[in-house]
Amino acid sequence: MRIETADTFPTKETILRAVNVKKVFGRGDTAVTAVRNINLDIKRGTMIALKGRSGSGKTTLLNLLSALDQPTEGQVYFNGQIISKLPEKQRSAWRRSNIGLVFQAFGLIPLMSAYENVEFGLRIAGAPSKLNKERAEKALEWVGMKSRMKHRPPELSGGEQQRVAIARAIAHQPLILLADEPTAELDSRMGLQVIKVFRDLVQNLGMTVVMTTHDPGIMEIVDHVIALEDGEIVTEPST
Ligand SMILES: Nc1ncnc2c1ncn2[C@@H]1O[C@H](COP(=O)(O)OP(=O)(O)OP(=O)(O)O)[C@@H](O)[C@H]1O
Ligand SMILES: [Mg+2]
Repeated sequence: MRIETADTFPTKETILRAVNVKKVFGRGDTAVTAVRNINLDIKRGTMIALKGRSGSGKTTLLNLLSALDQPTEGQVYFNGQIISKLPEKQRSAWRRSNIGLVFQAFGLIPLMSAYENVEFGLRIAGAPSKLNKERAEKALEWVGMKSRMKHRPPELSGGEQQRVAIARAIAHQPLILLADEPTAELDSRMGLQVIKVFRDLVQNLGMTVVMTTHDPGIMEIVDHVIALEDGEIVTEPST
């Protein structure tokens, strides 16, 4: 599979597309349809928010878009190629080069400095080690944390820790950043700081950001809001 890089991938092209995607967990009497009739077209260099009540299918949809999980029906395309049908080994290779993931709980290692957390992330992702130092420092610079990179997570505020977690997610310079409620643990001021980092990554690096959120303030800042209700999209992003 040809892997595009941030330099060669054209902006404003569709980077992720979902066609008639449905996900059913379990079978028989206990089957749960988590999402269905999902048709989406996400352009490169945009910032998208997924909103919806608890259980509406946001996390399920993010996991399908990142190919962490496979749809029961339908397909997910990256740059025009179906990724959802690839075997797990190829999907994880695709994820390693193209996707960065950020979660609500930052998942940083408390005994490692901010720099070591980011550098360790690159190492476990199997990145070529010669570039690790430079890439880790650059990622920390992008999120405005380079001057604090020797500090350990317990010495940082929640917003700062989340920015380090974002640095770890983007250090390998993925095209797409997927974030599941990245501001849920933060007060609104720190939440906005994190969103500003996302905005910079979109504007300056052409990254595409898809995040789930419950925060109305954030929905005003993103380019498009996709609302889910009982696993279905109720408002289409106007691209
Ligand atoms: N592995 C699973 N097995 C069975 N059902 C699941 C599984 N994962 C999710 N579900 C169900 O699918 C539906 C959608 O779940 P999902 O986690 O996507 O919701 P969400 O919108 O992210 O909710 P929240 O805001 O609480 O995080 C829910 O009814 C959930 O119980
Ligand atoms: Mg969720």
